Amino acid sequence: MSTPVSEAVTLTLRRPDDWHLHLRDAEALRAVLPFTAARFARAIIMPNLDPPVTTTVAALSYRGRIRAALPRGARFEPLMTLYLTDETSAEEIRLARDSGAVAGCKLYPAGATTHSAAGVRDVANLQAALEAMMEVDLPLLVHGEVVDARVDIFEREARFIEQVLAPLVERYARLRVVLEHVSTRHGVEFVRSARTGVAATVTPQHLLFNRNALFAGGLRPHLYCLPVLKSESDRRSILEALAAGDPRFFLGTDSAPHARHAKESACGCAGVFSAHAALELYAEAFERDGILPRLAAFAGEFGADFYRLPRNEERITLVKQSWTLPETYPFGDTELVPLGAGKPLSWRLQSAP
Ligand code: DOR
Ligand code: ZN
Repeated sequence: MSTPVSEAVTLTLRRPDDWHLHLRDAEALRAVLPFTAARFARAIIMPNLDPPVTTTVAALSYRGRIRAALPRGARFEPLMTLYLTDETSAEEIRLARDSGAVAGCKLYPAGATTHSAAGVRDVANLQAALEAMMEVDLPLLVHGEVVDARVDIFEREARFIEQVLAPLVERYARLRVVLEHVSTRHGVEFVRSARTGVAATVTPQHLLFNRNALFAGGLRPHLYCLPVLKSESDRRSILEALAAGDPRFFLGTDSAPHARHAKESACGCAGVFSAHAALELYAEAFERDGILPRLAAFAGEFGADFYRLPRNEERITLVKQSWTLPETYPFGDTELVPLGAGKPLSWRLQSAP
């Protein structure tokens, strides 16, 4: 951080990457992509479209649509993922690697979250795909929650780790694995004590809020995501890993836009939209906790190193300047409510869209 005489306080960082992002398609894609492209150089694009992106051909076509939706002059690289199913073949994994466009494969347990119905019913069925991924060194990105309705929703990450992830990490000993949107102390401790090649992404909402926020003065559908927000102790454990500068924890927003009416509903969709101010929200969380000097590596180095991609050389600047986040943004012919809607934020991007 530098404070030039009589000028604003600024924070200049290596341009970051978002290692977990939902961009959707068509009009929705066009509505949200400019926010990410203004901040991040690259992003790992989640494949849970309807129908899901299960093949390299579909991933390449989706990448084309993302590139076509970029604002003129934007420099942004979508890193594609394949959606794993019980049928994903080793051949498909090799095609994905050879395409040069696919950076990982996503494991959604069937029924765990939005558009996961076609996901994996039994990890045993993934053997050929996981062996091929290990062989060609394509990381496995995991939505780490069991789907068993008898398991308490706050325990689903811990149970998944015990029942599925820990044995998987042992069995596929050279597979690189990301526990996406880590939300519990159990998850943090698992990653911190795991073998080399195991990492986690961290969202802004799991850093800024605990589950009390979901019920503060009434039901708050715009803070509902999966994995659901957890306890204060869980939130603290994530911040402790970041405070330690642990390179296994890096930025992944999980920004997941849903139309306002789909969230403010008798059965609201899971997903928090944070792309509108993602880096600023992380800066807020890090500063609040006195760990702002840890932001640069979390946002711009650890993820690139894990994915074995070059760190970005460009820089981005945040200015310490209070502003009020918009209540809504346009979203096709409807609107969406962003994380922090109507609330003040103390960091601002020097040139935002
Ligand atoms: O809250 C979530 N929303 N969690 C997910 O895993 C999926 C995402 C979405 O696609 O809306
Ligand atoms: Zn996600």
